[in-house]
Amino acid sequence: MSIRPIICLPDPLLRLVCEPVAKVDSEIVTLLDDMLDTMYEAPGIGLAAIQIAVPKRVVVMDVAKKDDPPAPMCLVNPEIVWASDEKNIHEEGCLSIPEYYEEVERPSRVRVRFLDRSGAPVELEADGLLATCIQHEIDHLNGVLFIDHLSRLKRERAIKKFTKAARRDGPLDEKPVTRDRIR
Ligand code: NI
Repeated sequence: MSIRPIICLPDPLLRLVCEPVAKVDSEIVTLLDDMLDTMYEAPGIGLAAIQIAVPKRVVVMDVAKKDDPPAPMCLVNPEIVWASDEKNIHEEGCLSIPEYYEEVERPSRVRVRFLDRSGAPVELEADGLLATCIQHEIDHLNGVLFIDHLSRLKRERAIKKFTKAARRDGPLDEKPVTRDRIR
């Protein structure tokens, strides 16, 4: 198990439509375990594989309350098979758009179908935070970010801000540039 680097806006990989997983084999189980480690370390409540630059339809989540025991969930090839007409507004953030939070409106309940860590098919109905998180993560698999649900003005402002920050800071794993190297 290992912690992998998380890619951030405006990395173009975040806009890819991810490929379905053919089989939940040992490679996928390793990916799931690394994703859980990476998510808990961040810390976050959900992570899609593309956020660690793996373009596969794989998601991990844990929406357990702070004082409850951990409840890791692994979703391979997740698909929303039903969504309620009733909507819900929830404040969202994203590990790939650090320290940026906005309210997003989505269906308040969804039914989702996926394969679990053992490759078994699961169908479950979710509401509340779990429903929001599932929809946010499945969006990632389709190259969609939560800022795409905001007004054009807000979205463009966010993209501009993170594009500027990326230019200024360079890749996150790069050492800080010393003053005399700045022209
Ligand atoms: Ni996200």
